[in-house]
Amino acid sequence: MSKILKIIQNRHSSRVPFDRGHRLSKDDLMQILEAARWAPTAHNMQNFEIIVVDDKKQLEGLGNIESKISEDFLRENYQQLSFSEEELLQKKVGILGTLFPPLWRTPGDWGKVARESEPSSLDATIKGSPMLLIVTYDARKRAPASEGDVLGFISLGCIMENMWLMAQELEIGFQIMSVFGGNTVEQDVKKILEIPEYVRIAYAVRLGYPISKPSELLRVRRDTDGFAHHNRFGNKGFV
Ligand SMILES: Cc1cc2nc3c(=O)[nH]c(=O)nc-3n(C[C@H](O)[C@H](O)[C@H](O)COP(=O)(O)O)c2cc1C
Repeated sequence: MSKILKIIQNRHSSRVPFDRGHRLSKDDLMQILEAARWAPTAHNMQNFEIIVVDDKKQLEGLGNIESKISEDFLRENYQQLSFSEEELLQKKVGILGTLFPPLWRTPGDWGKVARESEPSSLDATIKGSPMLLIVTYDARKRAPASEGDVLGFISLGCIMENMWLMAQELEIGFQIMSVFGGNTVEQDVKKILEIPEYVRIAYAVRLGYPISKPSELLRVRRDTDGFAHHNRFGNKGFV
């Protein structure tokens, strides 16, 4: 197997707590940023700015931000869940329900669950990470003729993947935190990091080294002939 395919297959979401005291070296950080630098972007617009946060006070400030779960998230999240490893292995898409609290995996009145849920602090998501990357974009711009700037968002995804693969090669834990781009949270984060009004947060990344050896992860994917179509849509099964 080629080296790059091995790195791609081994890249994973590291959701375990990180060792607050084990900081990333400057050299490793620079390699991750260099990987972002060479990502493809629509029209080579390089429509991103990355804020590297490793100052204890700033991390603490971000950790104190509270977020509340939304009804939309609960409803749509539920549709992606499997309730056993066997189910996930069979479906080959989605994630395990056990990643979430029991109330989030019991169908019911999602509006009520959302209203009655306690806010949780971002600290519970950051889980000891000594360094965060906040990936932002200038919302006043868009890739040429790209409705909703879809091409701009795809570009931000390319930056994500380049950094993730680099971190994987360096054996650094990496997790995306979408909550940073969520409405009230985004405003609070922007205040602390002095991000201008016209700049939006796409996502944040937590980087670090797991405190203890993580247990084996169940990661599933469709087979290639589950998504590859030969010459016309629907003609599957040639690979
Ligand atoms: C755009 C995007 C947003 C994501 N947001 C989150 C997130 O907020 N929290 C999280 O733990 N993982 C997040 N993920 C990671 C996915 O859940 C993960 O990549 C997927 O379940 C496959 O697992 P793997 O990364 O271990 O292969 C996100 C991934 C992408 C591409």
